[in-house]
Amino acid sequence: RRAAIFISGRGSNMTALLRAMADPTYPAKAALVLSNNPTAPGLGLAAAAGVATAVVDHRPHKGDRGAFEAELSRALAAADIDLICLAGFMRILTGGFVDQWRDRMVNIHPSLLPAFTGLETHARALAAGVAFHGCTTHLVRAEMDDGPILGQAALRIRPEDDAKKLAARVLELEHRLYPASLLRWLNDDITLDNNRLRISPLAF
Ligand code: GRF
Repeated sequence: RRAAIFISGRGSNMTALLRAMADPTYPAKAALVLSNNPTAPGLGLAAAAGVATAVVDHRPHKGDRGAFEAELSRALAAADIDLICLAGFMRILTGGFVDQWRDRMVNIHPSLLPAFTGLETHARALAAGVAFHGCTTHLVRAEMDDGPILGQAALRIRPEDDAKKLAARVLELEHRLYPASLLRWLNDDITLDNNRLRISPLAF
């Protein structure tokens, strides 16, 4: 597979994927890192790793998601991409685009879905007083932070955790979960049953 990694910022999950995909036995190769944000620090990291980068800025398209996505599609076609990994990509994609990439687009979310979709997940987990928190990789569906779960990694919330400490501990899990759960999805000829994996998601 030829993968495109979509970012908007720091790119630490991207870096974890690039590292895994640099192994020739990994079933996907990082062919493109694409950012909607021209100043995303991750772009420089990708370039330093020798990976092609593209910027598709959403701002000139103001409210016209169709035009933004048409530009995304052109960049993907030009790089012959057949897998999209969302890694901190902060734009909502329309149902039309998502359907076009059905079962070929994955995301990582910093919570144990279906709890805490959306933003500020760590603060919300703390406020809710849950005992466990973590991250989830999933196939992307039109609803935000929804779709068949590929893997989850969990940690126990500590009394001394604040949102920042928790985010840092979850991020370490994210960096392990994303490459490992994607590997399993790509390798294991996993079929879906009623929009869920037929096997248990990867879990640690
Ligand atoms: C990660 O926590 C990811 O789960 C979330 O946004 C953050 C991106 O961080 N969606 P990075 O750009 O991968 O460092």
